[in-house]
Amino acid sequence: MKQIICLEPGKFERREVETPTSEVGKVILKVKRIGICGTDLHAYEGMQPFFSYPRVLGHELACEIAGETTTGLRYQKGDHVTFIPYFPCHTCIACRNGKPNCCTNIQGAGVHIDGGMTEYIQIPEYALIDGKGLTFDELAMVEPMAIGAHAIRITEISADEYVLITGAGPIGLGVMAFAKISRAKVIAMDVNNDRLEFAKKYFGVDYTVNALENPAEQIRKITNGEMVTAVIDATGNKRAIEGSLEFLAHGGRITMVGIQREAFSFNHPEFHKRETTLRSSRNATREDFDQVVENIRNGKVNVAALISHRLPFDSLPEIFPQLLNPQMGVIKAIVELD
Ligand SMILES: NC(=O)c1ccc[n+]([C@@H]2O[C@H](COP(=O)([O-])OP(=O)(O)OC[C@H]3O[C@@H](n4cnc5c(N)ncnc54)[C@H](O)[C@@H]3O)[C@@H](O)[C@H]2O)c1
Ligand SMILES: [Zn+2]
Ligand SMILES: [Zn+2]
Repeated sequence: MKQIICLEPGKFERREVETPTSEVGKVILKVKRIGICGTDLHAYEGMQPFFSYPRVLGHELACEIAGETTTGLRYQKGDHVTFIPYFPCHTCIACRNGKPNCCTNIQGAGVHIDGGMTEYIQIPEYALIDGKGLTFDELAMVEPMAIGAHAIRITEISADEYVLITGAGPIGLGVMAFAKISRAKVIAMDVNNDRLEFAKKYFGVDYTVNALENPAEQIRKITNGEMVTAVIDATGNKRAIEGSLEFLAHGGRITMVGIQREAFSFNHPEFHKRETTLRSSRNATREDFDQVVENIRNGKVNVAALISHRLPFDSLPEIFPQLLNPQMGVIKAIVELD
């Protein structure tokens, strides 16, 4: 079968490898779509921390069952599936406490172990997510959307509260989608007006704020002077993270979905007087994946709108570098396989 491997930063190579064969507890999937995410782009650029090469990239996968499974009648050849692409150890303290998404020994497909830029992939059956009724395009969006669903679930967003979501990239848009499903009043903030327009048009956010145009004043007006009860950062930008406290109501919470490499700081009296809750949100769990599939199925999340670019698997090594050009305006690019 064909596979595309990232040998080192800036270098893909096509190669022919053995198609994986069945093993007990594992299933062989035929890969149909690969969503390209920031992680893949950063890995290709050599900007992804803790990354080792060579590596087969790709973790946002739409697949079909390629052969027999040992799951009995649950799945049959040809069924549409995706899977949770971070494999936990099942024994560490996080796993034992029901948080496999932050397992101490987590093995991420396309990060720690080889991922999906390949025609067939073998994965543990326990990781499968049933994609019945979803198109392959939709299935490729489940993982990035699950990141957003997880952030909203652990922040315990409730109806009618004002939530500020900073960063309207694919991850932030997923957070916005699930904040709306929770019936919160959603304020989207970014420095890019095109992305804010997109969030309003396709993700139904209630308000948009440009972070460069006196945002505190705008948010004060929107919230009748009370500010927001939750800020969710999906920028990974240090300045945005450190600025988030300014928009937060007393008693509020901040959840950090975005990741940046440096330390950040808050003014302690400002943090203290609000009795701020600060947490991070990492990956997603089965509960989140199932919630995403259900909401795509019932038409509540418009994932098709996210797909801005398509590329055939065979020309991936040549086209992929173009996705890094900001002028391309990529929101989500997907790779198509037959
Ligand atoms: N929690 C997780 O498990 C998880 C999973 C995947 C990605 N991530 C992280 O989520 C973040 C977002 O990913 P993405 O793919 O959507 O990225 P992206 O770069 O496409 O989007 C980030 C957005 O933030 C905006 N932005 C940047 N600085 C800003 C500022 N100061 N104020 C307001 N807006 C600002 C940008 O204009 C952009 O639209 C990244 O840090 C990524 O590493 C986290
Ligand atoms: Zn991703
Ligand atoms: Zn573990």
